[in-house]
Amino acid sequence: MAPTRRPVVTTPAAPVPIADIGFDDLSRQPVGIGELDRVLGGGFVTGSVTLVGGEPGAGKSTLLLQAADALADVAGTVVYCSAEESPEQIRGRAGRLGTLHPRLQLACHTDVTAIVSILDDHRPAACVVDSIQTVEHPDVAGVAGGVAQVRECASVLARTAKRLGITVVLVGHVTKDGQLAGPRTLEHLVDTVVEFDGDRHHALRLLRAVKNRFGPVGEVGCFEMTADGLRSVGDAGRLFVGEAAPDSTGVATTLVLEGRRPLACEVQALVAPTTLANPRRITSGLDGARLAVLTAVLQQRVGIGLLDRDIYAASVGGLRITEPAADLALALAVASGAIDRPLPLGVVALGEVGLAGEIRQVARMSDRLAEASRLGFGSALVPAAYDGADGGMSLYRVRDLHEALRAAGLHSSGRRDATADRPVDAARMGAAAEPGSAEARMGAAAEPGSRARVSVSEPEGGHRPEARMGAAAEPGSAEARMGAAAEPGSAEARK
Ligand SMILES: Nc1ncnc2c1ncn2[C@@H]1O[C@H](COP(=O)(O)OP(=O)(O)OP(=O)(O)O)[C@@H](O)[C@H]1O
Ligand SMILES: [Mg+2]
Repeated sequence: MAPTRRPVVTTPAAPVPIADIGFDDLSRQPVGIGELDRVLGGGFVTGSVTLVGGEPGAGKSTLLLQAADALADVAGTVVYCSAEESPEQIRGRAGRLGTLHPRLQLACHTDVTAIVSILDDHRPAACVVDSIQTVEHPDVAGVAGGVAQVRECASVLARTAKRLGITVVLVGHVTKDGQLAGPRTLEHLVDTVVEFDGDRHHALRLLRAVKNRFGPVGEVGCFEMTADGLRSVGDAGRLFVGEAAPDSTGVATTLVLEGRRPLACEVQALVAPTTLANPRRITSGLDGARLAVLTAVLQQRVGIGLLDRDIYAASVGGLRITEPAADLALALAVASGAIDRPLPLGVVALGEVGLAGEIRQVARMSDRLAEASRLGFGSALVPAAYDGADGGMSLYRVRDLHEALRAAGLHSSGRRDATADRPVDAARMGAAAEPGSAEARMGAAAEPGSRARVSVSEPEGGHRPEARMGAAAEPGSAEARMGAAAEPGSAEARK
């Protein structure tokens, strides 16, 4: 491609009125990889510097080789500079990925001045440097990857990008323990920072923009790692909803926001007797501190005995959940695991759990409910204060964990191995609930035709009510659950 691009940045020597400064409209080059373009806000801006961060093995080189190949097709020559792999290694990967575009060129250098010379001589449309931690500047002391080297190399490449109008993409390593010389150090030197995240043991990878001088942040791209490379996943739908058997205990579903996207995600908890003085609280994909807080709230506010139990909690599919909106689902999963009783089918739980056990509002509730509805969930436990759209779902508004556990059929009476401070009186279910409270069971939650779960506990005296998720209850019986007939949110539904 002819080197005709103008520099993006022009610096006036003396102050001049801002309106008198000439400028080019941003020239944005879509890559043609849907999820990458979405995260970048429509593509790479010509002459910009983008940093792609990620843990070892996340797939940074894979993504950028695919992006380089796609860019070569639409924008012109792209140089892929590797400072950490041999040309043969990269050629091998390119063969596997099918990224052998004739305008995609490969250079292997560790000296950043050699890379700048290539850019000066060949003026490609774009250049990928893999990685910024393995290139070094001969005039700077310190080893490659050190803060001084990383900063200088990034600065030199950024200046070159602006001077020549070349799109530069840097790969940045992120270590699990802190961020030394990683993207955090570099963030202010570059225009755009995207993080490539994902559990190496799962196929799913998420790409997030954490800084973007030319577009919004908050978009998230979903990819699946396959033998042929990264595949855009336009509809993450049920990706994080597992395949646990319908009557599994310790399983609850919530919707977390990834950028602007609500994603349905299952959280699972295994609660087992401990042999340790300090029971284990182990998480995967979830915040360990959050699990500890919720465990304490379940223990102290609801009376579910967890002091002599180990708790293992995990998200499904390798998704990392940090949002408080997942609190209620995690608490329900732990409660379900502790009392060994499953949640009703087709239910999602949304809400932050406070230290008093209250259920608090979370952001963008209506979007989450709409997505849950789209995915076929029928009911949702939501904070009592939520008064927005139901998204076509049956809503069960709950003020605190007590109400949530009752609504989900996880109240404590009759459970196998936990003690409660407020055992539920079966006679209250359906009839004596306080107005406005959500004593309602998830009667409407069972999908039509699905095997409704038994959520009725055995009341005192050993009589086993026949009620099953509303419909089977004897009309008027105290055990009757809030069946499908009750309008969600109506007075009946709350009885
Ligand atoms: N043949 C293959 N089939 C499927 N997936 C593969 C194959 N080869 C590699 N991968 C995936 O690619 C990942 C490595 O990708 P890549 O080398 O792009 O990561 P990276 O982020 O650049 O790693 P590093 O930080 O080590 O440079 C592996 O973790 C694996 O998931
Ligand atoms: Mg790599």
